[in-house]
Amino acid sequence: MPNGTTLSGGLEIPNRRRPAAPVPGTRSLGLLKLWSLVRENPIAAFPAEAYQAPVARLTKFATGPLIVSDPGAIEQICVTNADNYVRGEFQQRRVRSLLGLGLLTAEGDIWQAGRRIATPAFTPRMLTPWLAATRSAGEGLAEAWSANAPGELVNIFEQFLKVSFDVISNYAFSREFDGSYPAVHRHMSDYFRVQGKVDLPTLLRFPRWVPTIGSVRARPSVGALRRIVMAVLNARAALPSTHRRHDLLDRYIDGDAPTEAGRERFIRDNVLTLLLTGHETTAAALAWTTYLLALFPWAAERVADEIADAGLGNTPGPDDLNRLVFTRRVMDEALRLYPPAPFFSRAAVQEDAICGTRIRPGDEIVISPWVVHRHRRLWEEPDLFAPDRFQSRQRNAIHRGAYIPFGAGPRICIGQTLAIYELLSLLVVIAGRFRFEIPDGARIEPLARITLQPRGGLPLRIHRR
Ligand code: HEM
Repeated sequence: MPNGTTLSGGLEIPNRRRPAAPVPGTRSLGLLKLWSLVRENPIAAFPAEAYQAPVARLTKFATGPLIVSDPGAIEQICVTNADNYVRGEFQQRRVRSLLGLGLLTAEGDIWQAGRRIATPAFTPRMLTPWLAATRSAGEGLAEAWSANAPGELVNIFEQFLKVSFDVISNYAFSREFDGSYPAVHRHMSDYFRVQGKVDLPTLLRFPRWVPTIGSVRARPSVGALRRIVMAVLNARAALPSTHRRHDLLDRYIDGDAPTEAGRERFIRDNVLTLLLTGHETTAAALAWTTYLLALFPWAAERVADEIADAGLGNTPGPDDLNRLVFTRRVMDEALRLYPPAPFFSRAAVQEDAICGTRIRPGDEIVISPWVVHRHRRLWEEPDLFAPDRFQSRQRNAIHRGAYIPFGAGPRICIGQTLAIYELLSLLVVIAGRFRFEIPDGARIEPLARITLQPRGGLPLRIHRR
């Protein structure tokens, strides 16, 4: 192992090259400097202390959001005492103006009603239709790449966004959004650009009714995305009952909306939530996994060999994909190093204590999978790529609160199981048939804009195997 190391528990790190990540600052910053850093890229603003201490403050002020990274405390907030915490403003200010009463942003009865309607579409039983949708999107991508010149430079993040959009549009909405992709993509990019940043009112904890420049500038994209959803909704609701598709869209149209919510808003916001959360995160996960395979050819070769040796046939199902143990480890390690949801937040309802720190009602807590997954006390060589951390023996030793790419507790990602199999199924096509190369001089930078995106996309050279 020429460039590698073997760590204490026998964990092998075959190559000590550090995948792209900002180096945490040690200085204690003034508010304006901190704000400009947080605004630019929150993961670059988390202080070094956050990666070492169980809890740390984002600002020097005692009122600043508390960054909690202790796995026991994360379980306390998200699981055992979850009733005492609602979604925090750090998160809500980025997404509530767009997703309103949808699953990601709603609370209480409205959240419960939204989750009750959607849950049956996300059980492991639904993997078969989900994988069928995934395969057809993956084959489309492979066909396009096969027609490219060898070594052609392709912005793979852009293409993965389209692939994962096709999967959710096909599976949940019977392809009714397929034609809307260019408009959805354009308005989402506009929204992320103006509203995806953490702003000063969030840091200073202005009351939520105070409009921010970002929220005002985001209004046109919010209006456009809502109109796209309403057009599909109205067309479907007007169909005679014999033409119903029994997909997630019909589930919401036919489901019981909570009385306190406007029925139309409730359906619209949930459909938009699932359309957006269902593809942005998966595309990011796929892009970062592919980046790591390009950076570490030894892992790419092992993944390709495993896929070739598995004899998967044309329509691999969940049991077939479960045989790809090394591919799964690479994916899990990619989700550790580049969690697609890099932070989420909670606000306390009643008083609590977290690692000895008093939490008052309304106190804001930031939980950052980005920080937790790179925490010095929780991981050996946290910044390095070592898929064998997820070998079963090592995996069993990982605290539930130390590895949280999908969150935890009642508000855990509803799409977790489907997303994992979507990623594995697409990797069979992507990593099994193609090889990737990072072009000379490329600057890859993870950028937190609600999701963790590669700044400027991810242009890689693609070769057929
Ligand atoms: C790799 C892919 C994905 C990752 C890493 C991811 C991550 C997350 C995380 C961390 C949360 C919890 C946020 C919190 O606790 O505040 C969450 C919630 C959620 N995710 Fe995902 N997600 C992924 C894919 C998906 C997919 C495919 C869908 C739907 C098709 C989806 C829909 C949702 C929804 C609706 C919520 C809100 C759940 C609730 O509050 O009840 N996600 N996701």
